[in-house]
Formats: sequence, C-alpha cells, structure tokens
Amino acid sequence: MKKTLFILVLCTFSIIGVYSSIQQDRILEAVRNGVVKLLTADRAPNYLTKAVKNISKIKDTLESDETICQSCQVVVHQVLTYRRNGANKDSMKTYFNKLCKIFTGWGNTACHGYIDIEIDPVLYMMDNKNDLTPERVCAIYFQAQKCVDPDAKKWIIPLPPPPKKNEEIEEDDDDDQIGPLRILHLTDIHYDPLYKPGSNAVCKDPLCCQSGVPSKPGNAAGYWGDYNVCDMPRHSVLNLLNHIKEKYIKDIDFIYYTGDIISHKSWASSKSENTKTIKEIYGLFASIFPNTTIYPILGNHEPHPTDFYSPEDVLQNQISTQWIFNLSVTEWSRWLPESTQDTILKGGYYSVLIKPGFRIIAINSNFCFTSNLWLMYEDEDPRDQLAWLVEELYKAEKNKERVHILSHIPPGEILCHKQWSNQFHKIINRFAHIISAQFNGHTHIDELKVFLDEDDESDTDKVINVAFNGASFTTFVGFNPNFKIYEVDPSSAMVLDYDQYIFNLTKANQNTTPPQWYKQYSFKNAYNLHDMSLPSFEDLLEKMSKDDDLMWQYYRFLVRDSDVKIKEGCNSKCLKKLLCYITAVETNESVNC
Ligand SMILES: *[C@@H]1O[C@H](CO)[C@@H](O)[C@H](O)[C@H]1NC(C)=O
Ligand SMILES: *[C@@H]1O[C@H](CO)[C@@H](O)[C@H](O)[C@H]1NC(C)=O
Ligand SMILES: *[C@@H]1O[C@H](CO)[C@@H](O)[C@H](O)[C@H]1NC(C)=O
Ligand SMILES: *[C@@H]1O[C@H](CO)[C@@H](O)[C@H](O)[C@H]1NC(C)=O
Ligand SMILES: [Zn+2]
Ligand SMILES: [Zn+2]
Repeated sequence: MKKTLFILVLCTFSIIGVYSSIQQDRILEAVRNGVVKLLTADRAPNYLTKAVKNISKIKDTLESDETICQSCQVVVHQVLTYRRNGANKDSMKTYFNKLCKIFTGWGNTACHGYIDIEIDPVLYMMDNKNDLTPERVCAIYFQAQKCVDPDAKKWIIPLPPPPKKNEEIEEDDDDDQIGPLRILHLTDIHYDPLYKPGSNAVCKDPLCCQSGVPSKPGNAAGYWGDYNVCDMPRHSVLNLLNHIKEKYIKDIDFIYYTGDIISHKSWASSKSENTKTIKEIYGLFASIFPNTTIYPILGNHEPHPTDFYSPEDVLQNQISTQWIFNLSVTEWSRWLPESTQDTILKGGYYSVLIKPGFRIIAINSNFCFTSNLWLMYEDEDPRDQLAWLVEELYKAEKNKERVHILSHIPPGEILCHKQWSNQFHKIINRFAHIISAQFNGHTHIDELKVFLDEDDESDTDKVINVAFNGASFTTFVGFNPNFKIYEVDPSSAMVLDYDQYIFNLTKANQNTTPPQWYKQYSFKNAYNLHDMSLPSFEDLLEKMSKDDDLMWQYYRFLVRDSDVKIKEGCNSKCLKKLLCYITAVETNESVNC
C-alpha cells in the first residue's frame, strides 16, 4: 500500500515535470516566433497572447521563474538585434509599444506614455553599453525570479578592520537634556494634484481617481482618499500637516521624511510637473512647521522618468537626472547645513551631526532599485555612495558618535539590486554597534527589519540592528494613512518607544468633515515589551515565531487596520511569510521567504 502510493506520487511528479518542461518549451517557442512576427505584424499573433497568459498561469513556481527568465532573454535579444541592425527611434518606439501591450497588459495610454518618457535613456544605454547582454538585463530586472548573469561582477566595498573591544563606545550618561527626543516620521505622501473626489476609482490605468465616471456609486473616488489604486488629494495632505501642527508639533524635535512625494501617474510625469509638486510639498512643510528641522531624502518617484537615477558619467541634459539633485540642494537648504551640499549634488545623500555624538546619515538607496533601468548600464556602487557611507561610518566610529540611517528602500527589499543589497548588509554588520536605528519608507507597510549577527556563529539569533518603516500617508493600495512619532534616547540615539497614528478611511469618507485621527498603538505596550533594547527584539521574534495571534496583530498594524486588508486577511502561511521578511535584510533572503 505504502509502496504503491510512493510510486504513484513519483509518477505524478514526473508527469508534472515532463508536462511543464514541454509547456515551457512551447511557451518559449511561441515567444521566440511571436516577437519576430511583431516586427512586421500590427497585432500580436494569437499563439503569443496565449503564451503570455500561460506564463501568468504558472506564476510563482520554479517553472515560471525559468520561463520568465528565458522569455525575457528572448525578448531582449530581439530588441537589441533590431536596434543594432539600424532601427531608428520611431521604429523602436513602435516595437516597444507592441511589446508593452502584450507583456504588461497595460492599456494604450500607459504604454505610450511610459515609452515616450523612457525611450531616450533606454536607447542611450543600448547604443553606449557594449556589453549590454540579454543575460545582464534579465538578471537585474528579474533577480527575484532567480535569473542570473554568469558575467555579473561581484563588486566589493572594502571595510575597515573591526574595532578593538575597548574602543567601543561607552554610554555617555551625563547628557543634561531632560527626557527623550521626539521624532516625527512622515513618508510616502504621494500627493496627486489631479485627484478628483467622485471620479472613477476603478479604471484600467495604473493610477485612478483622476477622471471618468464610476460605473456604480461604490466605484466613486472617496473624498479623503480611496482604497483602490489611487493617491492623495491636496486637502488630505493639508489635513495631515495641520493636524500634526495643532496636536503634536510643539513637542517634536525634528522630522524625518523618507521619500516619495510624487503620485503614481508615472506614465505621464515630467520634469516641470515633478519640480512643481516637490516645491509645493516642501513649501507646505516649511510654512506649516516653520520652527522644525526636516531631514528629507529622495524616493524613487521624485525623478523623471520615475525610478531613473542616472550614473555620473551621463551628462546630456535630456537624459541625465542631475537636475533632481540640484533641486534637492536648493529645497533642502532650508533645513540642512551648507556642508551637505556637495554630496547631495553628487548623488542625493548627506551626513549631518545634529548634536554632539548624534549623526544622521541620509542615503539615496533608489540607486539600488531594479526598476532604475540605469543599473543595466552601470551597477557598481553608483555615484560612489556605499564607499562614502563606509567612510562616514568609520569617521563616526572614531568620533564616538551614534548614527541614524535614513533610506527610502528598506534593507532586503526584493527589488533592491542583489550586489548592492549584499554590500549594504555587510556595512551594517560591520558598524551595527554605532547605528542606533534605521528609518525607511517605500513599501507603504508598517514593517520591521531586524538584523541578526552574521559573525557570531555561536549565537545566530543575536539581534544587532533594527530598521523601522514609516509606512505611508498614501492609501496606495488599500491602506489607512498613518504617521509615527518616536521617542529617542538623546545620548544613545536608541528608539525607546513609538506611537502610530491613523484614521479609518471608510469612516472618514462618509462625509467631508475632517478625518478622526487616533493612536492605533504604542510599540512597547502593544508587544508587551519591557523596553526596545536589542535583546527585547530577540524575545519578540521568538514570541512571534510561536504565536499566530501576535503575528495577526503585526499584520493589522502593517495595514493600519484598513477595512479592505482586514477583509482580505492573512492566513497562517501568509503570516509565516511576514515573519520571514522581518529578518530578511538582504535581497536573496527575501526571495527565499
Ligand atoms: C515659531 O517660533 C517663533 C519664535 O519663537 C514663534 O513666535 C512662533 O509662534 C513659532 N511658530 C509656530 C508655528 O510654532
Ligand atoms: C547643478 O549644479 C551644478 C553646481 O551648482 C552646476 O554646475 C550644474 O550645471 C547644475 N546642473 C543642472 C542640470 O542643473
Ligand atoms: C471603519 O469604519 C467603518 C465605518 O464606520 C466601520 O464599519 C469599520 O468597522 C471601521 N474599521 C475598523 C477597523 O475599525
Ligand atoms: C545570500 O548571499 C550571500 C552572499 O552572496 C550568502 O552569504 C548568503 O548565504 C545568501 N543567503 C541566502 C539565503 O541565499
Ligand atoms: Zn511610495
Ligand atoms: Zn518608493
């Protein structure tokens, strides 16, 4: 009985195996023929449409990873060959449009828009990078699908030797400040100047709530925001800032803004519109909080094209994104000392000593985001940022300073370039003892990232660092808006506790009276912790691994009790995944979660 079952299982497996490799071959064959056919045909042949559907059907399996990698290589090979055989810009645009429609499922508007915006930098890369191979492109773009490039360079940022034990900083207790510092964390506002309450919230574009007539009342864009694919109207942004001004700002020592001001209408962005919106938001910050210093960083949505941060050697004004650094120097000079300007101009990063012994290092981790297609052109420590980070941390160590790191993209984000992520991890591991906390945005979820000691083999659960995510003001997609206020020890710069504030969007949208903001939770209390020391995080992880109810609470906080996300739920497997992401601080670890 047992034996028969065993054979049956084996057979089933091998049948699935044979079947899917046949299916995989068929898909690849269809893609290979289809992309050639598309050069001359107006519409995609049926077999190509079907093959693309089949790829999405086997999604999230090993077969689909392989099929995606290989299909990607087939497409990129065809695109490169076409260009290298002399296709001009118009022919390339026509071809990209056909490919976009078939492979992304976006409509005409989004495809045309994206291609108009991205065509110049993309052609520049194709024409100026001799070793741009399909393997390279696909290994970067589809790293989460485990695509690899055998020729990828494993570049290394040298680290100084570890400090001698007696050089480690002793706690400086004679700080005469009374009580903790209070830091407000705002992030991912994604202000949409075109948001129109009552417009269609369920549209075919990658961002809705701007126009169109809803097909039924339930699809009308809410007054204060919307759980559908939408960003935030101006009056909601003003409500957030004025609410903070009225209730909290007098007790706030300074503010972290961890990026993403611009809306998700990336297929229609422009330098001038982005500039206008960025100036408007920083202007509001400055006028509503005139006495509070803000430490801002850039998100992936600030440049144009969205996600594109060009390398230093690309100088043409039309395609270089240098303008965003120049704009940041000007806008940020309200709050930052002149000494930060050189590095902001170089790459949008800076380091500032805010009081003796307490330094903020603000990095531009968007350079690691794999949607930044410039990584195809150059991925080796863009704008020398990680090398600079090591220098800054080494100086801070010698000067016995404690550091907060601000970074838009959280460590271990699945779309952060593998090598960059790996080197960042090594840097944190080396300097963890002086990094009191890290602050992130980008994922729009209230998540923790906890670094375990890589060096101590006897104690692999030892927590050495923690990164907090500010989540997002935008509801994109399906969240309640939030902000956080941290209490920070002025001498160790360690986070002592934080409060998260939210409002219930369903309730707010019942009328146009201002939303009722409330405290969703305080960290120490909600997790029943004695303090927020590193050993306490060790205990917390231990408790989380055994207690699904505690993880469900983590999920509720993560989505800020949003009605749609609570309804969607998160089963035991989903909760396990969330737990796994907490300690996945390097890309390849997240991929394995
Ligand atoms: C800012 O500080 C000035 C001078 O201390 C004070 O007069 C003003 O009321 C403050 N403004 C706000 C909005 O707190
Ligand atoms: C940026 O600023 C630098 C230094 O002020 C200047 O040399 C450069 O031309 C500016 N670039 C752009 C694109 O504005
Ligand atoms: C949000 O408000 C709506 C409407 O009042 C209510 O039905 C819902 O239960 C609230 N959600 C939460 C999580 O409290
Ligand atoms: C991730 O990569 C690093 C170095 O490349 C390696 O040491 C580590 O074991 C990898 N982790 C996983 C989970 O694959
Ligand atoms: Zn964002
Ligand atoms: Zn982002």
